[in-house]
Amino acid sequence: MADLVTAADLVNTAEATTLLTPASIAGAAYIVAALLFIMSLAGLSRHDTAKAGVGYGIAGMTIALVATVYATFADAWGSPQATTGLILLVVAVLVGGAIGLWRARVVAMTGMPELIALLHSFVGLAAVLVGWNGALEVTGMSGALLDIHHAEVFIGVFIGGVTFTGSIVAFLKLSARMSSAPLMLPGKNVLNLGALVAFVALTVWYVITPELWLLVVVTALALALGWHLVASIGGGDMPVVISMLNSYSGWAAAAAGFLLNNDLLIVTGALVGSSGAYLSYIMCKAMNRSFISVIAGGFGIAAPTSSSDGEEAGEIREVTAADAAELLRDAGSVIITPGYGMAVAQAQYPVAELTSRLRERGVDVRFGIHPVAGRLPGHMNVLLAEAKVPYDIVEEMDEINDDFAKTSVVLVIGANDTVNPSAAEDPGSPIAGMPVLRVWEASNVIVFKRSMSAGYAGVANPLFHRDNAQMLFGDAKARVEDILRAL
Ligand code: TAP
Repeated sequence: MADLVTAADLVNTAEATTLLTPASIAGAAYIVAALLFIMSLAGLSRHDTAKAGVGYGIAGMTIALVATVYATFADAWGSPQATTGLILLVVAVLVGGAIGLWRARVVAMTGMPELIALLHSFVGLAAVLVGWNGALEVTGMSGALLDIHHAEVFIGVFIGGVTFTGSIVAFLKLSARMSSAPLMLPGKNVLNLGALVAFVALTVWYVITPELWLLVVVTALALALGWHLVASIGGGDMPVVISMLNSYSGWAAAAAGFLLNNDLLIVTGALVGSSGAYLSYIMCKAMNRSFISVIAGGFGIAAPTSSSDGEEAGEIREVTAADAAELLRDAGSVIITPGYGMAVAQAQYPVAELTSRLRERGVDVRFGIHPVAGRLPGHMNVLLAEAKVPYDIVEEMDEINDDFAKTSVVLVIGANDTVNPSAAEDPGSPIAGMPVLRVWEASNVIVFKRSMSAGYAGVANPLFHRDNAQMLFGDAKARVEDILRAL
């Protein structure tokens, strides 16, 4: 009985064969890849699961690439056109992959934000090119479907254009090839709003009469708006801009997904777009900035009234590594607040060593991490994890800020803006209102830096002139090693 094949079985088998097309197989693979991307995001949100998260992401991307290549070439397999296409694709992947691997290997941790900004610009450019391609090659569409296609082309080109030039300006600012001060064009808010209104009007126009010159106009408008939006944002808000551009690049990819009819690109773009937007929101909250104001290119932000040349008059006290070691030996509790300078100096290893030595002596040592310390979200956490500092002594700003007042010694290692009292005390300061680590409330503060120069925001730091603060000048790594020797 088991060997008998019924007519219904035959029909089912035939149906199953016709359902198993390259497109449907790729569709199934895309669902698996999308799930892996979601698992990757979930994994990346915690230290201990971050490595697995990266693994899920790599697996998802590999499945997605293989499925896309298969779905693209399977139907025309063996034809000269498919062979040429495949060769071109393999060459492009090899060249792009080699450049990507080389850049990833040589980039210093401190250069990561610039690299990320540059990579976002590629996503933007890709969305513009996909949009233009969609406009030039309209196949087999009519009626409402064609109108939707035209709207997709226009929106994709616009988001892509804004992301492209915005990311280039972010790259130029982060790599100090362009001033980080905000560009203050007269009527800048009107310019931004006007560009948005013009975009909506042009979209309607293009859907009604899809003439190519309209696409040229919107491309130019988007490129100019992207440039202006990011140029108008001051140095202090750049971290938010990076995550905002990350979000824009996600939406640009999603728009390209609609045009290419690729579900996975839509899902992935939406994941990147929404998680980037949420991260920008969290960072705005952490820095006491208005989210709307930052994404609208500094909308409504008045120019600071205090000077921000980075130099402040007043006395400073210097300390030697030996004296600092003495202070630490007698301390009951120590909080270390690392910043960008720790990353530059690669001081995390001696800092981890110092932490374990002090803990062996019974000193209570903890880390206070500001949400925008360094140059990218989680920068300090990554460095400390790399140096195997136990997670349970690494605390966020909100968890630790009330404890500075009862702390014997604070070591400020290469941090500046994130410990600047003028953010809390000077309403005219360019960083006024940004929550900072209140290190000055501790009994003793030792600041590790090479000179009296300002931090990223270019704002003078009155902390260095406080009575309880002492400067330990020099490269942070060398100075921490000196302290270790003295201990
Ligand atoms: P910063 O304010 O940038 O200050 C870093 C300090 O480290 C500088 O004052 C510098 O002083 C010192 N330094 C540099 N190299 C050093 C070395 N080898 N040894 C010892 N000290 C060294 O750092 P922060 O407190 O971490 O604040 C971060 C800033 O970057 C904020 O303004 C934030 O808004 C901005 N930002 C953050 C992000 C993200 S997402 N985290 C992204 C972009 C921008 P010397 O030159 O005198 O040594």
